[in-house]
Amino acid sequence: MEKKAVLSCIQPTGDMHLGNYFGAIKNWVDLQKDYRCMYGVVDYHAMTMPYDVDKLRLNTWELITNLMACGIETNNLFVQSLVPEHAELSWILNCYCSYGQLTRMTQFKDKSSQVGELGKDDFVSVGLLSYPVLQASDILIYRADYVPVGKDQEQHLELTRDIAQRFNNAVGKEFFVLPEALYTDTPKIRSTADPSRKMSKSAGEKHYISVFAESERIRKQIKSAVTDTGEVDKNQMSEGVHNLFELIKACGNLLAYDALLEDYNKGKLKYSDLKDVTASSVLELVKPFQERKLQINLNKKDIKDKVRSSSHEIRKVAQETLKEVKELVGLLNVKF
Ligand code: AMP
Ligand code: TRP
Repeated sequence: MEKKAVLSCIQPTGDMHLGNYFGAIKNWVDLQKDYRCMYGVVDYHAMTMPYDVDKLRLNTWELITNLMACGIETNNLFVQSLVPEHAELSWILNCYCSYGQLTRMTQFKDKSSQVGELGKDDFVSVGLLSYPVLQASDILIYRADYVPVGKDQEQHLELTRDIAQRFNNAVGKEFFVLPEALYTDTPKIRSTADPSRKMSKSAGEKHYISVFAESERIRKQIKSAVTDTGEVDKNQMSEGVHNLFELIKACGNLLAYDALLEDYNKGKLKYSDLKDVTASSVLELVKPFQERKLQINLNKKDIKDKVRSSSHEIRKVAQETLKEVKELVGLLNVKF
């Protein structure tokens, strides 16, 4: 039987953090055993917020190295802008998605209000608004069955299914597969500096812990994690403490997790112990990734060639789907 298809993507907007790893990448690595996996570095998406032109290309290659260091196979990787069919399908799907639906997306509301806060100007591009349609194209163009992502992407996945359904109804057949989101056991990692928000690059440096940061920095960030703020509700673990427990669990340090939880339930947990264990669990996890990255960096040119050729291979699937879509929607299908 043919393997089911898995597709997911990440933006080259800077460091890879523990939220990315535990919410998505860890699943990406594991799924490679049993599925036909395609993982994209989505540089078109990274243009939707103010960005530095010179850094974008560097970040794209850096992220590819990081993904490989975490265990993603090179031939499963592609760069979005090397598969221009995503953008072409996105235009077509824009016509199968309502404007109102896009303005109601949480990420659009958050990010469009952040644009002004970033101090540049308050220019909100149409690209930011139609971001989820490009995401739907990333997924639907490969007829992906499963999409491993963090919980913050749930609404985008629902929109993707809506678009697919609307398209299928319009063309009168089940053309696009309705994809399902796949979550890890820790689908939302919070910022250690402010546990009321998710760990994220866009909120600023103290709001994420990079997988490739120096040990000292990681330890320091975890040591200064916010645990309880103000009043403590004895019946409910605070978000900050819960987040540290989640990190320990995500690292697979289950014995320490159980012991600390027992202390917590007896009311004798010391937060300094919790933080020490969190830091050592995280450091143990990231060490092999950091070592592998050093090795990979020795063969940089090789990697660029490999990713260009894997993008070329993956593109063939996208071209086939786009050809069929054009046929279905009444566009000319001429090969020049
Ligand atoms: P991004 O860095 O926004 O391109 O996200 C890449 C992947 O990481 C997506 O699947 C996100 O859902 C996931 N992700 C990002 N931040 C978090 C977080 N704080 N917790 C869990 N997953 C996350
Ligand atoms: N929007 C996703 C994020 O910010 C990134 C993304 C773009 C994506 N295209 C995708 C994720 C397709 C899954 C599938 O994390």
